[in-house]
Amino acid sequence: MEDERIISAVKMNEDEIELSLRPQSLNQYIGQTKIKENLNIFIEAAKMRNEALDHCLLYGPPGLGKTTLASIIANEMKVNIKHTSGPTIERGGDLAAILTTLEPGDVLFIDEIHRLPRNIEEILYPAMEDYVLDIVVGKDSTARSIRIDLPPFTLVGATTRAGDLSAPLRDRFGVISHLEYYNEVDLEKIILRTASIFNFPIDYEAARELAKRSRGTPRVANRLFRRVRDFAQVLGGGVISLNICKESLDKMNVDDAGLDYTDHKYLLGIIERFNGGPVGVDALAASIGEEVQTLEDVYEPFLLQGGFIKRTARGRIATEKAYRHLNLYE
Ligand code: ADE
Repeated sequence: MEDERIISAVKMNEDEIELSLRPQSLNQYIGQTKIKENLNIFIEAAKMRNEALDHCLLYGPPGLGKTTLASIIANEMKVNIKHTSGPTIERGGDLAAILTTLEPGDVLFIDEIHRLPRNIEEILYPAMEDYVLDIVVGKDSTARSIRIDLPPFTLVGATTRAGDLSAPLRDRFGVISHLEYYNEVDLEKIILRTASIFNFPIDYEAARELAKRSRGTPRVANRLFRRVRDFAQVLGGGVISLNICKESLDKMNVDDAGLDYTDHKYLLGIIERFNGGPVGVDALAASIGEEVQTLEDVYEPFLLQGGFIKRTARGRIATEKAYRHLNLYE
């Protein structure tokens, strides 16, 4: 038995490793201070009243910890969590099947909730508001609606785009939290925590450098940590020093602002193929061979926040900072 556990630990894939790094409680969760403080109050209040926590919408760029927060909410409320996602729920029956297995107070986590089909959203409205499920059984002249009572539950929805949610759905969330990119101090703490979980030494200056290049995103920080650890293990004598950190990040094409190969391709695309912009995202995506959605969800939010691009009514433009960063001159 013990052997099995060890073997499976060795075989952990990237997703499992990420899971093992996830904080389990609000206390362990670093950053997003305001969200954490408020959630703590809402959770305590719900517990004192012996009620389910109100429905929560978490939105922000990928990799900032929305799924982690959903699990923490369930842990803190001492209830179960059921995971699903917008694109996997195709029919009303899929949603009904999940809703009817919930126990009082449980958390239903719907990732990418903006991708729920509209007709399914409509099933959610009475479920969220009155904890009832209205489903149609039978066909044509025999069709009738039956109502099933649900236990009080908490819907936690996660989305990269709150703007894509219909207003009626958005309005049914009692708590709406916008996750922001992490600052370097918090990312450094996360990296030091990860190093201690892996029991792998890292110098403070190296942790700071890694934090600086992790584009404000814990998932990126943890991924880069694992790769830098590989370099340190093979070439650096088992310690992540500043030198090893810089050398390995450079080798992986992560520049000193955290921009990677695709960010560079994006910026150079605007500058070289569209004369600096403005250019629409569709034309840009086609010209550099990337998906529009990936650019919009993953790359643009960070480039915008970092001041490398601007969004105008006529499209994206590269800023002077982008030209300087790439050593180009306007
Ligand atoms: N690992 C990933 N994200 C984290 C966070 N916000 N706090 C602590 N550890 C993390």
